[in-house]
Amino acid sequence: MFILGLQGSPRKKGNTDFFLSTFLAAAEKQGAETEKVYVPGKNIQPCKGCGYCEKKGFCIIQDDDMKSGIYPLLRKADIVVAATPIYFYNTPAQLKALIDRCQSLWSRIYRFNVKDPGAAHKLGYILSVGATKGRNLFDGLHLTAKYFFDAVNANYAGSITYRQIENSGDLKKHPSVLKDIEDAVARLVIPLMNRKKILFACRENTCRSQMAGAFAQFLAGDKIDAYCAGSSPADQINPVMEEAMMEKGIDMAFRKPVSIDNVISKVTPDMIVTMGCGEACPFIPETEKIDWDFPDPAGKPIEFMRQVRDEIEQKIKALAIKISG
Ligand SMILES: Cc1cc2nc3c(=O)[nH]c(=O)nc-3n(C[C@H](O)[C@H](O)[C@H](O)COP(=O)(O)O)c2cc1C
Repeated sequence: MFILGLQGSPRKKGNTDFFLSTFLAAAEKQGAETEKVYVPGKNIQPCKGCGYCEKKGFCIIQDDDMKSGIYPLLRKADIVVAATPIYFYNTPAQLKALIDRCQSLWSRIYRFNVKDPGAAHKLGYILSVGATKGRNLFDGLHLTAKYFFDAVNANYAGSITYRQIENSGDLKKHPSVLKDIEDAVARLVIPLMNRKKILFACRENTCRSQMAGAFAQFLAGDKIDAYCAGSSPADQINPVMEEAMMEKGIDMAFRKPVSIDNVISKVTPDMIVTMGCGEACPFIPETEKIDWDFPDPAGKPIEFMRQVRDEIEQKIKALAIKISG
C-alpha cells in the first residue's frame, strides 16, 4: 500500500509541508509505505499543448522529471495526496505544471481506452490552506483537483482545507488539525491496509508476474494489495505483454521490473504466488506459498501471450473468490 504525497508549496518548511508530513507520518503508523515529492524542486516543464500525446499516448517531453519519476509514482500509488497552498484561487505554478502534464495520462484513458490497473480503488485526496477567509477560496482548487484525479484514474475522496492560515507555523497552531488528519487517515488508509498482501513472482518480472499483479489490482483491488517482482529483473517490461494487456483495457505503461528482494524489504506478503522464478523463489516462514505453472511467453508470438494472459486472468478471478470466502 503506497501513498504518494505531492508537496506543492515552494516554502520548504511552511504550512503545506507540515500538513503533508503529518498526514504521511500518520499513514506510516498504520503500516503504509509513503513518499513525499517536493514538487517545486523537480524539473517539470509546462505542457506545450502540442497534441502529441493524443496521437501517440506519451508526452513529447521526455527529458524532465515526469517520465521516469512522477508518472511511475502516480501509477504505483494507491492514494495520491496533493497538498497545496492557495495561490490566486489555485495551486502554485510548479504543481499546476505537473497537473497539466497529466494530459498524456488523460489521453491514454480517453483516446486509447485503457485504464491504470489500480483505477477502481485508487484514491485522490487534497490538503490545502489559504490566507483569506473567502467563501469561495477553495472552489478553483476543487475543480482542478477533480479533473487532475480523473486524469490519473484516482477517485476524488475529499479534502481537508483551512482558511486564514498565512505565515509559516500558523497551521501547527490550528486546534483541530491533528484530529482531522487522524480521522482522514482512519477513513482512507485503514481499509486499504486490511487487504491481503500478495506477491506475484517470476524470473524477469516482464510478463507473467506483471500480468498477474495487474489483473489482481484490476479485478480484485478491494481485496488484494498486489505486488509483483522477479528473481532476476530485466530492464523493462515486455512490449508484447503490454500490447496483450491493452487489448483487455489495462494500461501497463510506466511499470518497471523490480527485484523480489526490493519488495520484501518493504513489505511482508501474506501470500506468494510463484510462476517460474526457479530456485530463487523466496521463502518466507509463515507466508503461504502457491505455485502456478505457466510457460514463459517471452519471445513467443502474441497469440501465445494472449493465451497465458487469459489463463492468468482466470486464476486471479478464482483466487479472489477463494480469499473472500
Ligand atoms: C503568490 C501567492 C499567492 C497567494 N494567493 C492567495 C490567494 O489567492 N488566496 C489566499 O487566501 N491566500 C493566498 N496566498 C497565501 C498563501 O495561500 C498562504 O500564505 C499559505 O499559508 C502559504 O502556505 P505555505 O506556508 O505552505 O507556503 C498567496 C500567497 C502567495 C505567495
